[in-house]
Amino acid sequence: MAFKQTETPLLAAMEHYVQDGVIPFHTPGHKQGKGMHPTLEKLIGKQALALDLALIEELDDFYEPYGCIKDAQDLAAQLYGADHSFFVINGTTGGIYAMILATAGPGEKIIVPRNAHRSIIGGIILSGAIPVFMQPEIDHQLGMAMGVTPETVAKTVTEHPDAKAVLIINPTYYGVATDLKKIVDIVHQHNMVVLVDEAHGPHLKFSHRLPIQAIDAGADICAQSSHKIIGALTQASLVHCREGRINVPHLKAMLQLTQSSSPNYIMLASLDVARMQMAVDGEELIEKSIDLANWARTEINKIPGLICFGAEKIGNPGVFDFDPTKVTVTVTGLGLTGAEAERILRHEYKVQAELSDIYNLLFMITLGDSEYEVKILLAALADLALKHAKPFDDVAAKSGANTHYPAPPQVVLSPRDALFGSTHSIMFDDSVGMICAEIVTIYPPGIPLLCPGESITQEIIDYCRQLQQGGMHISGPEDCTLKTIKVKQ
Ligand SMILES: Cc1ncc(COP(=O)(O)O)c(C=O)c1O
Repeated sequence: MAFKQTETPLLAAMEHYVQDGVIPFHTPGHKQGKGMHPTLEKLIGKQALALDLALIEELDDFYEPYGCIKDAQDLAAQLYGADHSFFVINGTTGGIYAMILATAGPGEKIIVPRNAHRSIIGGIILSGAIPVFMQPEIDHQLGMAMGVTPETVAKTVTEHPDAKAVLIINPTYYGVATDLKKIVDIVHQHNMVVLVDEAHGPHLKFSHRLPIQAIDAGADICAQSSHKIIGALTQASLVHCREGRINVPHLKAMLQLTQSSSPNYIMLASLDVARMQMAVDGEELIEKSIDLANWARTEINKIPGLICFGAEKIGNPGVFDFDPTKVTVTVTGLGLTGAEAERILRHEYKVQAELSDIYNLLFMITLGDSEYEVKILLAALADLALKHAKPFDDVAAKSGANTHYPAPPQVVLSPRDALFGSTHSIMFDDSVGMICAEIVTIYPPGIPLLCPGESITQEIIDYCRQLQQGGMHISGPEDCTLKTIKVKQ
């Protein structure tokens, strides 16, 4: 039966089951809240708990959907223009694991940006694939990794014609988009699959003022964090794919491998309702968020000492387009690091940013915001700027970080082989030629210097020491001082 976008077939089936007054002799054990401690029952509420249901015939099968879950997923596919959409209950992390497992197996190459989110590295570890890294462009003013350019992709696919897939992060956390359409054409010409980490793009479809979404750009598969940007519950994500280059039954098998056999129905229903909300009101809600964010950007740029980048960056290397709802505020003009400003805003102004790095704070404006919240943010930033005006001790610039960034070392083992089996710690200064068994990352711009399976070079050791002397913080290895490093035995 074909449903309309105004309907929510999964939620409707759940409500029907509850209203039917069935006595549940099935999981979850709390039996619609009745067996739960009153503290938790009160916290969540009886109505929601009644909907905490399980895989029974009329509520479909999460792994092999045929009923209300399938109907809800089909509506998502129709809305986003995909051939198939899948609900994911462990975030885009779970979606990315499945995308990678479905396209690159043990020993097969997958091309990924060096500033890959940990879920991408995690997926590569799980699959046993061999990563081929592409360096993203870096904006030195913002100390931030932007997109990878089509030229970088073209060079990498030409050098690695045996690679199975190319994974692109688009847009980045900070809302920067690359020329995805061009990249898709290049990758497809080389008969490889295009995977997109679209964690930050579930809203792109709903405004012409936003970058093109992955499926519309011709990508084969993407994963979106519906919970991050639109109205789904935390951990609820979507995977969308096109037929052709993706083996859909195999993808389904990989989604089963990476997800629980006991999905949380309230979380699944949140995807059904969030999809309906976007279908009905998405354009209006997203246009409003864009207007709010653009207003915030204009006002922030009037505050002495603050910079809020925007469309003027379009055309710079790695910046083809931009999502204005990501409001990045560069605070170096106040003599503060992003982390310091984040703490002050939280504790003195009760304003919490999404994240901070050395130079910047990121504020997300979504369909949950109004003029009221933006006014509070603007007042807090104006007062912060008034109270803090001292020169910025730019340890990153002094240490030379980001300016002479060393090339990724040679990958000699898959990250999976490097991580498992016997490893031991040795002095970092004596580790040239050894195979690294952990990740070493420097912030900003959050690009790993070493990944598991890479051969450690003198250049990397010297670079790390130079950064440390400049006062930069290294993250990732068990010994963050980098006196020692874990290597493969
Ligand atoms: C670029 C990127 N990819 C993937 C993820 C993982 O998404 P999720 O938190 O939905 O698992 C994140 C989360 O922050 C992200 O920023």
